[in-house]
Amino acid sequence: MSEIAKIELGGQVFEFPVIEGTEKEKAIDISKLRDMTGYITLDTGYKNTGATKSGITFLDGELGILHYRGYSIEQLADKASFLEVAYLLIYGELPTQAELDAFISSITKHTLIHEDMKQFFEAYPAKAHPMGVLASMVCSLSTFYPESLDPNRSKEAKDLTIHRLLAKLPTLAAWSYKNAMRHPFMYPRNEFSYCENFLHMMFAMPTEDYKVDPVVVSALNKLLILHADHEQNCSTSTVRIVGSSQSNLYSSISAGISALWGPLHGGANQEVIEMLEQIHQDGGDVDKWVAKAKDKEDPFRLMGFGHRVYKNFDPRATIIKKACDDILEKLNINDPMLAIAKRLEQVALEDEYFKSRNLYPNVDFYSGIIYKALGIPTEMFTVMFSIGRLPGWIAQWKEMTENKEPIGRPRQIYVGATPRDYVDISKR
Ligand code: CMC
Repeated sequence: MSEIAKIELGGQVFEFPVIEGTEKEKAIDISKLRDMTGYITLDTGYKNTGATKSGITFLDGELGILHYRGYSIEQLADKASFLEVAYLLIYGELPTQAELDAFISSITKHTLIHEDMKQFFEAYPAKAHPMGVLASMVCSLSTFYPESLDPNRSKEAKDLTIHRLLAKLPTLAAWSYKNAMRHPFMYPRNEFSYCENFLHMMFAMPTEDYKVDPVVVSALNKLLILHADHEQNCSTSTVRIVGSSQSNLYSSISAGISALWGPLHGGANQEVIEMLEQIHQDGGDVDKWVAKAKDKEDPFRLMGFGHRVYKNFDPRATIIKKACDDILEKLNINDPMLAIAKRLEQVALEDEYFKSRNLYPNVDFYSGIIYKALGIPTEMFTVMFSIGRLPGWIAQWKEMTENKEPIGRPRQIYVGATPRDYVDISKR
């Protein structure tokens, strides 16, 4: 017999269906609540609100499980390429060799960006944060492809927009860095893989050859896969809600990039390195900074610790911690910041404050350290997260449009002033 939830209000009992997902997670379907009772639910930060039924990513925060389309993150990070995972997320199944070849070939064809866009880059100040540049550039793509504005275009036309975006994001990202350095832009090269091409556009110079290190390519591939989707987080919910008004893919993803920028979300990886530098410059007293993080009067938090949904461990952090140790050893990196990171990890994992609140190092704690080892500048860290998260955002946008979900429109409980008469300015 299917389960029923009962709510008693003013002596009357109302019944609501309980629905169950394929992984046995349960929800009370309150979509008729207001019609039936006149009440709404209040859930600031949506901690208990399911905004959609989705078949893309499953995560269990208590057990530390993360699956993309049923495949474990551990297997995908170990065996797959980033574009294979992108295909899986966006189209629902792992590609055959022929499907993957066609997908890669289409993406490779679209890596160039319109020459006119170079002028946009040049107009930004050198100190412009690359996330601000990236969000604007992605939205600007819609002006070069006006056909993408039509929400009712064919499947082929939608796929073309998706492939263009996947192809152009690394170019836009690398060029935002080159522009900040006032270095010449490096054009994409079709003979390179997705990760190699990005590293080439970031680090090559017209004056000399740049040899892409396979160790770096493999670490980058893993990092991008680990970030590829994370169900209904802040930026993904933003993409879905913007897209729900039938706004085009470029503008929806641009909004997602802006949401990711914040230090409590994707901006945390940059904050981790800045925090480690701050502790280093302050003399490296880790205990002092751990005490600051525990002090409720002090706004300081240990960046890279804690997670909204993972309350035991972050499975991505487990994979990435190993990749982090490997890459530091292979590249033979000796960085004082690293010793601080290791000590911080150890102190926090043993401290009662962090243990009792289930605050463990999250994926961004280690990704920041790896990006630093790969030579990626700190301000680019969240840009790297955007490149990784793009397939997830696209998959979620596509699912939302294909399910013909209604426009997102939460309600509120009004707590402002009750009606009053206008007072003339001379009497206020
Ligand atoms: N350092 C010190 N105390 C913390 C921290 C931290 N990093 N995170 C949470 N707490 C404390 C917090 O003060 C609160 O204590 P109390 O119960 O005594 O009031 C308790 O732990 C619960 O915190 P919360 O803010 O209610 O937890 P949340 O689930 O709403 O927030 C979070 C999750 C990720 C925003 C938060 O842990 C945080 O600010 N972490 C640092 C930023 C960070 O690393 N963000 C990256 C998240 S992973 C990337 C991604 O998926 O976006």
